[in-house]
Amino acid sequence: MERTLCIIKPDAVKENHIGDIIHIIEREGFLIGAMEMLQLTKQQAENFYAIHKERPFFQSLVQYMTSGPVVVLALFRENAVTHWRNVIGSTNPMEADYGTIRRMFGKSIEANAVHGSDSIENGEKETDFFFKGTYLLR
Ligand code: RTP
Ligand code: MG
Repeated sequence: MERTLCIIKPDAVKENHIGDIIHIIEREGFLIGAMEMLQLTKQQAENFYAIHKERPFFQSLVQYMTSGPVVVLALFRENAVTHWRNVIGSTNPMEADYGTIRRMFGKSIEANAVHGSDSIENGEKETDFFFKGTYLLR
């Protein structure tokens, strides 16, 4: 089955939206194959976001993503990558459709509540980055 990585980012954890977001994940038919709460180290955040290292927002993004605990989940579903990106909405919460997670819970283009993998290949890479070989499916 296809998989994607969800990260409930520091802003959404601080504002007590973990339960709201997991409720949506289950309602949308994803199976949670792995889940962990952790605080990313600078090194982990830099590695995870290595594709963005030349972008002007990279240092700020790493600082933000290490600023507090996050919840990381491996989500399994048919069409998981595209479906999850539709559920979370556009990167900028102000431009995201009504009813999407970023529209409901995002604060800014950076503090946008959740992450979603952007391709099937990255869904596999990113879930393995945290959970390789530990998925529990029923
Ligand atoms: P994500 O990877 O977190 O699911 O988000 P995305 O694909 O929608 O956005 P991406 O372009 O991959 O950017 C990764 C994260 O960097 C932060 N960002 N800040 N200040 C800015 O202009 C800016 N642009 C992006 C966001 O946290 C974004 O989710
Ligand atoms: Mg991205």
